[in-house]
Amino acid sequence: MKQGLVLDRVVLLGRTLEEYRRYFALELAAWRGRAVLDVASGVSSFCAEAHAVGLNVTACDPIYELTPDVIRPRCEVDLDWVVHGIRDRPTYRWDFYQTPARMRAFREAALEVFLSDFPAHPSRYVAGRLPELPFADRAFDLTLVSYLLFAYEEQLNYEFHRRAVLELMRVTRGEARLYPLVSFEARRSDYLAQLVGDASLAHLHFEVVPTDFEFLRNSNCYLRVTHRH
Ligand SMILES: C[S@@+](CC[C@H](N)C(=O)[O-])C[C@H]1O[C@@H](n2cnc3c(N)ncnc32)[C@H](O)[C@@H]1O
Repeated sequence: MKQGLVLDRVVLLGRTLEEYRRYFALELAAWRGRAVLDVASGVSSFCAEAHAVGLNVTACDPIYELTPDVIRPRCEVDLDWVVHGIRDRPTYRWDFYQTPARMRAFREAALEVFLSDFPAHPSRYVAGRLPELPFADRAFDLTLVSYLLFAYEEQLNYEFHRRAVLELMRVTRGEARLYPLVSFEARRSDYLAQLVGDASLAHLHFEVVPTDFEFLRNSNCYLRVTHRH
């Protein structure tokens, strides 16, 4: 019997710079002047807000082939579904958002910022889909993936995760940070241990880094992936 949010597909919801900063423990000043990639960035406002504070962020998601008038209604449907679906679930802690209505306000704010930045700065938004990304080898100092890997372990199988990590690290010269490491059942994904022990990823180093942000229970950490030298 499931206790967590039930989803049949990857939803189209976006988070804000504040949320990214908290769960990736991002020191914004440290990343100024570096090339940052946000994969599966969707309708997040991270890219727009990060540029506004001087970061060089490229966002990559399959939806960037679409126009804002197609994206908005898809996102609104998913937001209704998720806000309704997370009520009373034991898999969440409400310390940060306090209520589903406040969480919804974060998502709506992210959507509006994204929808104005996307047409205004199209060069920041690149259409692409894991496990193949349209970027050169080691083009980025920092690559982020928020709410695609591990969370959607039921929709995206282990082989997808393995190939995705290989591809993320092909385009990354510094480090990748992946969040969360739990599924929507708030249980650490088995794929994490599989990735760490996978001989085809032996050239990579994996480190679980604790943070002080927890919405999905047990999600107060991110995965840092670096190249072994
Ligand atoms: C839940 S949203 C997360 C958006 C953003 N990262 C955040 O945390 O606010 C998941 C995103 O993954 C994107 N997505 C789905 N399949 C993908 C794939 N194979 N490669 C990259 N992105 C994908 C969706 O279009 C959607 O925008």
